[in-house]
Amino acid sequence: MIKIIPAPKSVIEKEGSVAFGKHMKISGEFGETLKFATHAVAETEGGEGCDMTFIKDGDVASEGYRIVAENGKIRVFASTENGAFYALMTLLQLAGKSGKVPCCEIDDAPAYAYRGFMLDSARHFWEVKTVKKYLDLMARLKMNEFHFHLTDDQGWRVEIKKYPLLAEKGSIRRNTQLALYGYNSGSELHDDEEYGRGCYYTQEQLRDIVEYAAERHIEVIPEIDMPGHMVAAIACYPQLSCTGDPTEVSTRWGVMDNILCCGKDGVFAFAKDIIDELCDIFPGRFFHIGGDEVPKKRWKECPKCQEKIKKEGLKDENALQGYFNNEIAKYLKSKGKRMIGWNEILDAQDIMDTDIVAQWWVNHSAGNSQEKKWMSKGGKIIMSPVSYVYMDHPFYMRPLKKTYSTDEKLLGKHAGQNVLGMEIPQWTEYIRCEKKLDMLTVPRLITFSEVCWTATERKDYRDFEKRLEGAREYFGSLGCPVCPQYLYRGGLRPWYAVTNALKHALWYKDVDYEWKIVKDRL
Ligand code: ACM
Ligand code: ZN
Repeated sequence: MIKIIPAPKSVIEKEGSVAFGKHMKISGEFGETLKFATHAVAETEGGEGCDMTFIKDGDVASEGYRIVAENGKIRVFASTENGAFYALMTLLQLAGKSGKVPCCEIDDAPAYAYRGFMLDSARHFWEVKTVKKYLDLMARLKMNEFHFHLTDDQGWRVEIKKYPLLAEKGSIRRNTQLALYGYNSGSELHDDEEYGRGCYYTQEQLRDIVEYAAERHIEVIPEIDMPGHMVAAIACYPQLSCTGDPTEVSTRWGVMDNILCCGKDGVFAFAKDIIDELCDIFPGRFFHIGGDEVPKKRWKECPKCQEKIKKEGLKDENALQGYFNNEIAKYLKSKGKRMIGWNEILDAQDIMDTDIVAQWWVNHSAGNSQEKKWMSKGGKIIMSPVSYVYMDHPFYMRPLKKTYSTDEKLLGKHAGQNVLGMEIPQWTEYIRCEKKLDMLTVPRLITFSEVCWTATERKDYRDFEKRLEGAREYFGSLGCPVCPQYLYRGGLRPWYAVTNALKHALWYKDVDYEWKIVKDRL
């Protein structure tokens, strides 16, 4: 039976199977994929007497492929190296450890060109090997954009040679908030351990990650979150802020008033210096500047920001952020890059270059009218609606079924060609061990791959769940365990939600390092 994730466009099943494994003769076009294939099947027994041939066919859609497996032969048709690679990913999943693939014809192509996953390495740091594990999983799921959230108030995790303090000092926080309870009154619980010393990526490590991703047809998009979420940088270089007062790397989560001063020319120069170093490492088309959650309190009180607003003829502080966005977008464009920002950048959309891409994560008070207006001008959107896709929230709050139902229809009639694609973010404020990262990330990423790849009319959640259960061993063998079904199903009926919350808590306590610390202190 052909049961793979994400579900292909069209499948014809036939009688019998074809041997698949290290003894196959692998040949044809698409040299990179041939090399990858040889390596990927090196551990799989089987394939005696079988040929796997890759054939160039200009009629196959870009990123698409056609597989014909019959009579002891596997033939793959594709027009691009990516398409050939995705055919290989399908074959690897079909074969698993069995050493054979069922006879079949498969025609396939993605619904969206942009199929993204974001990992927050700022709040908690993930080793290169963990990042690579997720790049491997993304490749198996035919996802192609890895958004790397590298900096935030609580940690700076990328080496910048011109500003060495960023990594040396900005990576370290005095302690870490453990739970939300009591946050509004400032009495939330913290541990008493320093976190993050040495926890940053060197430029060499980042080049290695970029290369590893490229071999899997994944673009790495760096995010330097600006002008908000910059406290770690301000702690190293206080002159970047409006007041210039000394401060420390944040130990609390949330939104901070202390942001970059956009009234100072030096701040623009700082941002451009960082872009210079990173564009040299990340060769992709996109660069993410964050732009989310930017309180304007400091700017309202800052003589330099007010002077800039006046001098540039800007309407208000939102327009000052728009001005910052445009300046950075222009600079990125001069380096051949397209800028992405979280949807708050649209607060100044009337003065913004429509080449900038907005990542929709949360509704404004006026619903999603900002995004609709942006698209009506031809502006492009990446969809990451928080209540559908955020991965850090527990399954009882957001069952996989909800993520599966993510649809561009949420954005109304201007969606279609203005939606570049979809992205699922993993924020890690409350995730500090890999076991919890896996628990919350693996099943939802698998689910989301079908949202990105499979056309709406082919989607079917009940069928998906069966395939997910069927593929449990396959994903487990990649080091990516799928948590028990009772967890990821969550529950919509109140009694079900309560029992699941309890079961969840019981299971959680074994994987949740910070839960143990909280428990010890209560
Ligand atoms: C976000 O979740 N602040 C983009
Ligand atoms: Zn200022």
